[in-house]
Amino acid sequence: MQTDPSLALALSAPKAELHVHIEGTLEPDLAFALARRNGVSLPYASEAALAAAYDFEDLQSFLDLYYACADVLVTEADFHDLMLAYLTRAQADGVIHAEIFFDPQTHLPRGVAFATMLAGLESGAREAAQRWGMTTRLIPNFLRHLSEEDAFATLAQIEPYLDRVDGFGLDSSERGHPPSKFARVFARCRELGKPVVAHAGEEGPPSYVVEALDLLKVSRIDHGVRAVEDEALLQRLAAEGVPLTVCPLSNVRLCVFERMELHTLPKLLAAGIRATINSDDPAYFGGYLGDNIRAVQAAFHYPPEVWYRLCRNSLEASFASDVEKAGWVARLDAHFAGARH
Ligand code: ADE
Ligand code: ZN
Repeated sequence: MQTDPSLALALSAPKAELHVHIEGTLEPDLAFALARRNGVSLPYASEAALAAAYDFEDLQSFLDLYYACADVLVTEADFHDLMLAYLTRAQADGVIHAEIFFDPQTHLPRGVAFATMLAGLESGAREAAQRWGMTTRLIPNFLRHLSEEDAFATLAQIEPYLDRVDGFGLDSSERGHPPSKFARVFARCRELGKPVVAHAGEEGPPSYVVEALDLLKVSRIDHGVRAVEDEALLQRLAAEGVPLTVCPLSNVRLCVFERMELHTLPKLLAAGIRATINSDDPAYFGGYLGDNIRAVQAAFHYPPEVWYRLCRNSLEASFASDVEKAGWVARLDAHFAGARH
C-alpha cells in the first residue's frame, strides 16, 4: 500500500480536540458493561445489535439513541472510565489537549448529581495527565430542546462548582431551537466570567451562526459548516478569526453531506476561516480524530501545509493559556519542519 507522507505527519502531529461530547464516546462494549454494573437495561439485545442501529438519517435520529445509551452512566466510576477510555484513544491520535463537552441535563433528571459526573470526569482526566501529560478542559452544554427555565435551573446547580468548569456550550436538536432562545442564559454565563460556545449551522441555517455570534457572543462556533450558504457570513467569520470546530465524519453520518467529497471544509479553508477537525461523537460516527483525518485526506489529499494549519488552528483556538499555546506551536513547528513547502 502506498503511504501518504502528509497523512502520516498529520496523524502524529501534536493537536487539540475542541469538539467531543463525552457521552458520544461511549462504545457499545462499555455501554453493556456499565448497564450490567448498574442494573440498567439498554433497548438492544447485544453490542452487535446496538452497533447495527448506528444508521442515522439526521441529527434527531442519532440523538434519540445517544440519550437512551447515556442512561447507563450513573456513578462517579462510570464517568471516570468513560473519560479515560476517550483520552486513551485520543492520545494515540496525537491529541495533547482536549476540551470536552458533557450534558448535565441528560444525567441530573435520573438522580445523578452534578458533583458525581464532575468528579468522575476530573479523575479520568487526572489519570491521563499523569500518564501522558495531556491537558483537558470541561465544558457543560445546555440542551437546546429544553426550556430557558431548565437551562437556568441547571446553571444554578453548576454554580457551586464554577471554578471547575471552563466554559459553557449549547447542543442537542438544532432545528426550531435558535440561539436566541438562550441569549439570557448565555449572558449570565459570560457574567460569571466563562467563555461560551454553541453548536450552530450544523443542520440549522446560517442565521443561527449569526445569532450565536451576535446574541450569545460565542468564542467559537461548533460545526458552522452551513455558513458557506451566506457569503457575507463567510467573510465575517474569516475577518473576525472565529474558529469553527468542524466534525467531518459526523456531518456525513448525520447526512448533512451525502459524502465526504461534498463537505464544505475546502470552501471554509479557502475563505480563510480558522477551521479545526474534531470527532464530535466518535463511538457513533465511525471514528476518533485520527479516523476523521484519514477520511478528510482520502477525499481532499491535502499537502502538509494544510494539515499544519488545521493542527495549529486547533491549538490556538483552545481555551489554554498563551504560554501553553506558544509551547505547543513550537512543538508543532518542529514536527512539520522541512515538510511544509
Ligand atoms: N449532542 C451530541 N452530538 C451532537 C451534535 N452533533 N449536534 C448537536 N448536539 C449533539
Ligand atoms: Zn457536537
